[in-house]
Amino acid sequence: MKFNASVLKDIIAGITPLSVKRLYWKSMRSAAFSGVFKDFAEAGDEHPWESEGWIELSRQKLQAALSGAPLDGYLGLTAETINELSGEKTIKVLDFAGGTGFVYYRIFPFLAAPDNVLWHVVDNATLIDMGRSHKTERHRLAFFETLPPALDNNYDVVYINASLQYIDDHVGLLKKLLTYRPRCIILTRLLAGDIKTYVTSQINVGWHKTPCRFLNAREIISFFDQEGFDVLKSAPNRAECLSGHYDKSIPTAMRIPCSMDIVFRRR
Ligand SMILES: C[S@@+](CC[C@H](N)C(=O)[O-])C[C@H]1O[C@@H](n2cnc3c(N)ncnc32)[C@H](O)[C@@H]1O
Repeated sequence: MKFNASVLKDIIAGITPLSVKRLYWKSMRSAAFSGVFKDFAEAGDEHPWESEGWIELSRQKLQAALSGAPLDGYLGLTAETINELSGEKTIKVLDFAGGTGFVYYRIFPFLAAPDNVLWHVVDNATLIDMGRSHKTERHRLAFFETLPPALDNNYDVVYINASLQYIDDHVGLLKKLLTYRPRCIILTRLLAGDIKTYVTSQINVGWHKTPCRFLNAREIISFFDQEGFDVLKSAPNRAECLSGHYDKSIPTAMRIPCSMDIVFRRR
């Protein structure tokens, strides 16, 4: 066995009691960004999304989501937009990289016409199994491990929360999602701003790093403009303050103070 940092991490993780891990994971909730890389391969991927720490955090987030606490910020914007579209007719929403369906469960009590909202989540098997286990007959929610074929499926809304940054070919993904002919795209907690697009490494929950891309906001707006979409709503997500999370390897000019929420509507 090659004895490297990753093996050492696994050994430490194996012998650390769950109670200690939980304390550590709690302290690691804020992400740390480190380095500027030429691409995802150079940044290196330790696959946080299948890790014990992420699964535990997702379980805790899902429990909290079911409490029905008031919505604000990006969740308020998401519920408001979905309510505007679903008042009169049924809509289908594709929540790409939606984890356990956290956002659906969180906004569900605030949906004006919940029967009009069909919500499809795409993510890995472990997370969607967890999400599925909380589904009741009231929820119009379905889970998928892969994107459904576009020919059989159209979606009214494509939703991506805090995930586009982890997709290597993000433009390719967006083009693919547009084949579902959505009339609305909602991107929340998007890592974009008045900076040059670049790839960094994010240390995520449970010691695992993942490649992560910060985007130039004008680039993404211009991409959707060329695809026939206008910006309907756009706001900085001040609740997600990133200022303390960059290490010194990231130049000040490449740091955004917070993420952003943006809604595009087909012209
Ligand atoms: C920060 S989490 C956000 C999860 C969810 N959107 C939420 O709001 O709770 C990032 C998510 O991206 C998912 N993800 C990363 N790469 C993916 C890919 N290539 N395809 C689908 N999901 C992916 C991970 O499994 C993880 O659930």
